Amino acid sequence: MNPEASKQARPDAAPAVSITHLGKVYASGFRALEDINLDIRTGELFALLGPNGAGKTTLINIVCGIVNASSGTVVAGGHDVVRDYRAARARIGLVPQELTTDAFETVWSTVSFSRGLFGKPKSPMHIEKILRELSLWDKKDARLRTLSGGMKRRVMIAKALSHEPEILFLDEPTAGVDVELRRDMWEVVRQLRADGVTIILTTHYIEEAEQMADRVGVINNGRIVLVEETAELMRKLGEKRLILQLHKRLDQIPGSLAEHHLRLAGGGEQLIYTYDTQAERTGITRLLSDLGKAGITFNDLSTQQSSLEEIFVSLVRSAA
Ligand SMILES: Nc1ncnc2c1ncn2[C@@H]1O[C@H](COP(=O)(O)OP(=O)(O)O)[C@@H](O)[C@H]1O
Ligand SMILES: [Mg+2]
Repeated sequence: MNPEASKQARPDAAPAVSITHLGKVYASGFRALEDINLDIRTGELFALLGPNGAGKTTLINIVCGIVNASSGTVVAGGHDVVRDYRAARARIGLVPQELTTDAFETVWSTVSFSRGLFGKPKSPMHIEKILRELSLWDKKDARLRTLSGGMKRRVMIAKALSHEPEILFLDEPTAGVDVELRRDMWEVVRQLRADGVTIILTTHYIEEAEQMADRVGVINNGRIVLVEETAELMRKLGEKRLILQLHKRLDQIPGSLAEHHLRLAGGGEQLIYTYDTQAERTGITRLLSDLGKAGITFNDLSTQQSSLEEIFVSLVRSAA
């Protein structure tokens, strides 16, 4: 078998994480998750999107054994995360949303120690490799309290990778992170994915999900409202806009064009027509003919596909 092929996402393999009927009610009585059913495929990069308070961190923390579920089951790397906690956790790396580092430790010792926690034999070579990849090598002897926030975040990533996890969770990895770290981080993520690591991340930078993720899940009010291949999602839900650059500025849209629900933009110099790429008819032929009848001519026309961001906002709005 081609070794490269085995490194791609493997939809047929057993799921990396299998979440069944998962629910969470916090001690306060707040229901944070309700009947979550989700399989994360081995080798995929899955982006979990959702507004603040949707339940993303709760879900990740349950999979990682930090928060107890109220109902349902989670199997990660073939192990039940409750019954078989240690075995499951050893396969998981977590970069938590909150920075938690021990101020007086050095970078080297905190990352090496983390590896030991998961019962892995010492491997200075592996630790060196990840510290270099994360541009932390020249800080290896620095104490954590002397590091900037960005550097501490790099250390969190290094810790999560210290025991060579098969499954990596990144909870809001790019929130408040500088450009350089973002770039380094995406490079590391890309490399891990190429090595066959399953990656689940939450992000507010929807653009990144759009570019990086194989699949996207949207969570809102503790419920999964959508799981879809990123490309398929873009195609299926994507509204397209036809933008006509007008010959002459318009003050208002003639009444005879009302049925097309046009929008005037660009100071009256653009007409925007929105249509569904999935519809049997786009209505463009009719529109162009009606424009001709109304004596409206244009210099140029272009189309625009809506972004995942817009799709996301409209999903969350309609589900609220
Ligand atoms: N320990 C807790 N006790 C009570 N409510 C909590 C606790 N932790 C989180 N929540 C609530 O659960 C909801 C989901 O939180 P969280 O999982 O952090 O969402 P997200 O990561 O999507 O922003 C929020 O309304 C939050 O206030
Ligand atoms: Mg969160």
